[in-house]
Amino acid sequence: MSTGHDTVVAPAAAPRTATGRLVEDVVLGARIGAMRAGGYVLALRGDRVARLLHKPWRLDPYPVYAELRAAQRTTGPARSRTGLTAAATHASVEAVLRDRRLGVRLSDGASRLGEGDGPSLMEPVDLSLLTLDPPDHTRLRRLAQPAFAPRRLAHYREVAERVTAELLDAALARGGPFDLVTELASPLPIKVISALLDVPDVDSARFARWGLALGTSLDGVRSPSHVRELTRATEDLRVLFGELLEQRRAHPGEDVISTLAGAVEGGTATPDEVLALAQLLLVAGFETTTNLIGNAVQAMHRTPGQWAALVADPSLAAAAVEETLRYDPPVQLTARFAHEDVEVGGLRLRRDSGVLVLLASANRDPDVHPDPDRFDLHREQTAPHLAFSGGAHYCLGAPLARLEGEVALRLLAERAPRLRPAGNPVPRVATVLRGPLHLPVTA
Ligand code: HEM
Repeated sequence: MSTGHDTVVAPAAAPRTATGRLVEDVVLGARIGAMRAGGYVLALRGDRVARLLHKPWRLDPYPVYAELRAAQRTTGPARSRTGLTAAATHASVEAVLRDRRLGVRLSDGASRLGEGDGPSLMEPVDLSLLTLDPPDHTRLRRLAQPAFAPRRLAHYREVAERVTAELLDAALARGGPFDLVTELASPLPIKVISALLDVPDVDSARFARWGLALGTSLDGVRSPSHVRELTRATEDLRVLFGELLEQRRAHPGEDVISTLAGAVEGGTATPDEVLALAQLLLVAGFETTTNLIGNAVQAMHRTPGQWAALVADPSLAAAAVEETLRYDPPVQLTARFAHEDVEVGGLRLRRDSGVLVLLASANRDPDVHPDPDRFDLHREQTAPHLAFSGGAHYCLGAPLARLEGEVALRLLAERAPRLRPAGNPVPRVATVLRGPLHLPVTA
């Protein structure tokens, strides 16, 4: 989900001495700094795409999206000095996502990772499906699909309801203000994904820590120490997943790791591929769902009458989830690369050029969503929102995310009807992911 723009490859591993690491850090730090500084200068000069990557604009990107949509309609799509073209209207975003002449890799199948050269600053962790085109993508996606079958979802609903009730009981029993993110929105998806992968209780705390660390990689890399943290978490997870795969190979269950272990046995996937897939399932469902719950509560508190409407009728929780996904989606954007010279959705793209796909902008397009800047639980959804992307990479976990969001909001409305803000939220400083890092509330 990282934008993949301006891909810079980290230096090949230096000897792991203290001096080697220091040199590596300095070089890496300088590259990150240079990327940031270069982008910031473009942003100051009015490059709207660059603005999406920098403060203060990225704290509220919606006015920038509106400008990009308006410009796309009048003078054509924005071509940024960052090298990217932006798809900002609903029609162009949908067209790009559905067009098989574009993919997440370059036309020769090369990844933007700079294979073999170490981690990229923008994509330091192997995110499996998100970085693969057909046929590998199709083959591996099939392996993960059974994890989201209706029968499995019924089981996750039980887990989500039990966990939400426990977390809320604990937060409310203490009395006084609490942080909705750290006390509910963050731990809930962690526990549900642990159930999905059937991670034993003894491992779940470490699992959660590594998952949270890797989740930050969806937004690219911030610093050398961030790269080190990601590398450590990846290595630790490899060991844990390696053990789990071995155990499920010997004693298969109904969980997704057992399916993956079977695929390695049957020769449909390599051990590295299934490790990356397991890692993706862990990462993709953490902070995304956390942000969904945080953004929903924030939107309802900020828009008069909306929280009261949910309290009066908690069965509106599913509608609240859909309206949040449209109005303030947890994943704001993604990227694609043209595999040939193409014209798509009014955009002209040269082979191997990148397009920034602004999902959140499409969701506020007045051509398809009347009065798009208004959050309204009773809105008639006139067009599908694109919060879960579209085409080949449509979010595999969408039914699970909807379920978790619905359970969390419904139980909140039922058990904490007087829920209200208790301080200023702390926003996540990120471009791809959007949501509060801390959301103080009181019941
Ligand atoms: C509100 C929560 C969520 C949002 C907004 C979200 C959003 C997205 C988006 C936008 C993509 C596609 C990115 C692209 O087109 O490049 C995606 C892919 C994916 N998501 Fe989600 N997601 C959420 C929750 C989850 C959950 C709970 C899981 C599973 C545990 C999950 C698993 C995946 C997987 C495996 C993919 C890769 C699909 C592919 O590339 O074929 N997501 N998600």
